[in-house]
Amino acid sequence: MTASEIRALFSVASRPEVVSLAGGMPNLAALPLDALSVEVADLVAREGQVALQYGSAQGVPALREQICEVMRLEGINADPNDVVVTVGSQMALDLVTRIFCDPGDVVLAEGPSYVGALGSFAAYQARVVHVAMDEHGLDPDALRDALRTLAAKGITPKFLYTIPNFHNPAGVTLAVERRTEVLEICARYGVGVVEDNPYGLLGFSGRTYPALRSMDPGVIYLGSFSKTFASGLRVGWALVPPAVRDRLVLAAESATLCPPSFNQMLVSRYLDGHDWRSQIKTFTEAYRDRRDAMLAALETYLPDGCSWTTPDGGFYVWLTVPEGVDTKAMLPRAVTARVAYASGTGFYADGLGSRQLRLSYCYPTPERITEGVRRLAGVLEAELDVMRTFGSPARLTPTPPAVSRGPQSPSPDTA
Ligand SMILES: Cc1ncc(COP(=O)(O)O)c(C=O)c1O
Repeated sequence: MTASEIRALFSVASRPEVVSLAGGMPNLAALPLDALSVEVADLVAREGQVALQYGSAQGVPALREQICEVMRLEGINADPNDVVVTVGSQMALDLVTRIFCDPGDVVLAEGPSYVGALGSFAAYQARVVHVAMDEHGLDPDALRDALRTLAAKGITPKFLYTIPNFHNPAGVTLAVERRTEVLEICARYGVGVVEDNPYGLLGFSGRTYPALRSMDPGVIYLGSFSKTFASGLRVGWALVPPAVRDRLVLAAESATLCPPSFNQMLVSRYLDGHDWRSQIKTFTEAYRDRRDAMLAALETYLPDGCSWTTPDGGFYVWLTVPEGVDTKAMLPRAVTARVAYASGTGFYADGLGSRQLRLSYCYPTPERITEGVRRLAGVLEAELDVMRTFGSPARLTPTPPAVSRGPQSPSPDTA
């Protein structure tokens, strides 16, 4: 594992004068904090002896039932016995990789993919083969090609890791008509599917997509309350086939004994006593305003030769800059110009992504987003100017080592 190279920059990037479009921090401003503080006090007063005690390794039973209700919104019919509560879905990702992967095993993942997943795969020395996406998500033809090529070498990947909805970092959603095709291709090659879905309920049109798990009970499904309620509580879950469940519970037990009882009971009370569906609507309306501000600013300010995805939910826009610009080399200059982003190479296991970067619109206000994109456009213009004059912006900066340092461990800043 390696520390995120850009983590050092974040001590600068987190200064108030810098507009950070880098992090994936949910915007919690709309949470009903007064009502929640009453709930916290009541939880301690009435159920403190349980809430402050160790609990079951699989998670609080009442919460596991409520999680099944949440998943029903995406067409999943689940048994609470098959739900394992984890410390965020990041822990579920780590445990699933631990269970399935030996060093050298191959895992398929979209290219680009979530930094935290790539970090877990690297930690267990799994090799990542990326599968291309387009504006409709994972490309089934590319998946078929990748599996055919691997099969010719006698390799069966352990699983396909996919983020079908409002992808991190690509911002795209897997088209509904591709979903069964992806499952069929994986089934034909005997490859499992891990569906990571923290953003599925954050669609701007209010629409939800049928989960892959709703079409195939063999899919391992990961969910989270981080983006729909409170990331700091660190409550996520895995819905797994019974054959995997017992091993997952054992792995969870060895990692943490049990997920925090207090946090689970608070989430359970929140789901029980608050209109969480309206709360999600409030969140998505705020995110939609921010997305609109970002898209409008990109259209207004960015130089020719840039292109970007148009997310219909979630937190992220994936930007491709003109040929010759290296987004990792440009980042210190962007931070000097008081704007931060996540450069593209961190989202690939194989060193690709130098022409891409991820912009998050979840946290700053629309006005700050507009200003941040304006600053970024200025940095890009300067970069292109240097290229026009000298041929390459790299002449002004030491070129980073050509060898990829591999995926980096995630941090809250880059999640
Ligand atoms: C695709 C994806 N999976 C998993 C996670 C981890 O979320 P959690 O807070 O539930 O651990 C994130 C967080 O940003 C994410 O974007």
